[in-house]
Amino acid sequence: MSTAAKVFRGKTAVITGASAGIGEGFARHAVSLGMRLVLADVAADRLHALAGELTAAGAEVEARATDVADPAATEELAERAYARFGGVDLLMNNAGIMAMGWSWDIPAERWDAALRVNIGGYVNGLRAFVPRMLEQGTRGWIAQVSSIGGLFPSPLMAPYSVTKFGTLALTESLHHEMGMRGAPIQVSVVLPDSVHSDIFTSAREGGGTLPEAEAFNEALRKRAETVGITAGEHARRVFEQLAEGRYWITAQPEAVDEGLPPRTRMILDRATPRLPEQEG
Ligand SMILES: NC(=O)c1ccc[n+]([C@@H]2O[C@H](COP(=O)([O-])OP(=O)(O)OC[C@H]3O[C@@H](n4cnc5c(N)ncnc54)[C@H](O)[C@@H]3O)[C@@H](O)[C@H]2O)c1
Repeated sequence: MSTAAKVFRGKTAVITGASAGIGEGFARHAVSLGMRLVLADVAADRLHALAGELTAAGAEVEARATDVADPAATEELAERAYARFGGVDLLMNNAGIMAMGWSWDIPAERWDAALRVNIGGYVNGLRAFVPRMLEQGTRGWIAQVSSIGGLFPSPLMAPYSVTKFGTLALTESLHHEMGMRGAPIQVSVVLPDSVHSDIFTSAREGGGTLPEAEAFNEALRKRAETVGITAGEHARRVFEQLAEGRYWITAQPEAVDEGLPPRTRMILDRATPRLPEQEG
């Protein structure tokens, strides 16, 4: 039996953005570990289809169409989770969106949506679940999905870089706060690199037709085809690392290991940032 199955069997997980991509991978893998699930997503039809499939296969699943950018809706999600299962052991803040374009040119509503979902959605998840998990007083886990984009800022996707950097700060603050409260809750940050999902297509639909952004989006999608892993394999690696008690969770550590030393040196040297293609 895997370490994750030993740790998480019979426990309850809440997963946001659960009906597609990385979140769907988490949901399917959590079921294979013997977990009970609370699934949330704005895409109601897709969410209920997945929940129906998992339930038919014998899993215990509570699915609720939820816009995580809405604090009241996220609070209702927590009420439902506790009413159905009496407790939550693992909260996975995962729902996120991308917005592409020149930072000054991305429409105000796209900027706003990225901030409200990628940061606001995680804060809403913490506001709704952490007080209940603290009161529960049992061993718990909070996993917040950032990105390697939270370590390496990128042109043409500033809202994404800003929010994924913000997730690192939010998660580290939370980790220290759990320590200060002496809470038995492990906090972790997940740094996916390239995982097969719809995020690049959705980013395209949501943001204009700027040729530079189109080309960059295409490059990211091509990269996903070559170095990307499936959401299922990503989930398997993430749950193992969660079960091992890690704070930094990297299913694909190569890009972090390669990129972080030169980036750290650049800052220590007070050198001007350069893109990889500008390096001699
Ligand atoms: N796919 C990658 O390569 C990659 C890399 C780094 C980080 N990530 C991060 O992983 C997370 C999941 O991304 P993904 O690639 O699976 O994307 P995806 O677009 O395939 O799935 C995201 C899911 O979140 C849902 N969602 C969007 N807005 C929501 C809202 N307001 N409330 C509730 N649900 C909402 C969508 O309906 C969708 O089901 C994101 O936080 C993303 O930034 C992904």
